[in-house]
Amino acid sequence: MSPRPAVQALPAYRPGRNPADLAREIGVDRAIKLASNEVAFPPLPAVVDAIAAAAGETNRYPDNGAVVLTDALAERYGVDPAQVATGCGAVMLCQQLAQAYTEPGASIAFAWRSFEMYPLLAQVAGARSIQVPLVPGREGGPADTHDLDGLLAAIDDDTRLVFVCNPNNPTGTAVRRAGLEKFLDAVPVTTLVVLDEAYREFVSDPDVPDGTELMRGRPNVAVLRTFSKAWGLAGLRVGYLLAEDPAVAEAVRKTHVPFSVSMLAQAAAVAALASEDEVRARCASVVAERKRLVAALRARGFDVSDSQANFVWLPVGEQAAPLAAALEARAVITRPFAGVGVRVTVGAPEENDAFLAALDAVRADGG
Ligand SMILES: Cc1ncc(COP(=O)(O)O)c(C=O)c1O
Repeated sequence: MSPRPAVQALPAYRPGRNPADLAREIGVDRAIKLASNEVAFPPLPAVVDAIAAAAGETNRYPDNGAVVLTDALAERYGVDPAQVATGCGAVMLCQQLAQAYTEPGASIAFAWRSFEMYPLLAQVAGARSIQVPLVPGREGGPADTHDLDGLLAAIDDDTRLVFVCNPNNPTGTAVRRAGLEKFLDAVPVTTLVVLDEAYREFVSDPDVPDGTELMRGRPNVAVLRTFSKAWGLAGLRVGYLLAEDPAVAEAVRKTHVPFSVSMLAQAAAVAALASEDEVRARCASVVAERKRLVAALRARGFDVSDSQANFVWLPVGEQAAPLAAALEARAVITRPFAGVGVRVTVGAPEENDAFLAALDAVRADGG
């Protein structure tokens, strides 16, 4: 039995390099993974306690409506619980949005390059992808920033969804308040704009708007956030959507795979939300490391734009794959995007030092 052509055409899943396997293979004590934009901190103490407490109840199904978590999120953001939908990671919410809002013939618009799941989920939904190339965000800089005018011009009568990834994965650049407000005011009301703010907690520029504020009074705007990055719950899979119009959250809830947000994930997310001060302090240290890393890379001659996320982008073009391979041979796993650049997650200070040392060694070897 053959699957649908759209599914046959999907690339096969290629797991990222496991640091323990790599260390064994190249004969070192430890390899460093800076490839998936996780935080290097261990889970928050309150999270570990909450998981331990919930573990004794895992013979039961989780609460399918994630009521406690939904209420905690509603309170945190000053919205009604009807405006909130939780999901098995923000990526699943992206997929649910595609299911809920598109049908064959419809289109989904987004910048490219951006989060690599957008074209894939459009393909699975049978929707057409409209990809709008990134443009330089500063004079003479690499093409790494959303072209909001281009995105607006590309929206057609069939465009049901637009993803704006802010800050953008993998380039780390962010769009500013005036540009995004102008864009949102111009998008047709029949098109839902999803502000994917997976990295919002790492934003330090006050001119980068908070989508949960921008969505107010705009019924065709929704915001995606995740517990995977700043909140340190990547292994548990939980994200959420906030929408001005409760009908959007309801549509997403209707396409939810039953029980896909596990009991442990719900308990952990509630505990993490209650530890926000600790999370903020961790994010501040990531931001400080990001600044140090960007300066160190610029001092080495890389054309690095300011990042508002927990990763930095090296726009090295054709050197991307060989550079990542050479770093891997020196026990540092990064994320190459062939022909475009290498994305490097901001790790703990000693991990970032190890990355810079590996980079220097690669360059000293002529790489
Ligand atoms: C821009 C963006 N959106 C969404 C996600 C999905 O996050 P998760 O499914 O872990 O919540 C990611 C993860 O890398 C991302 O980079």
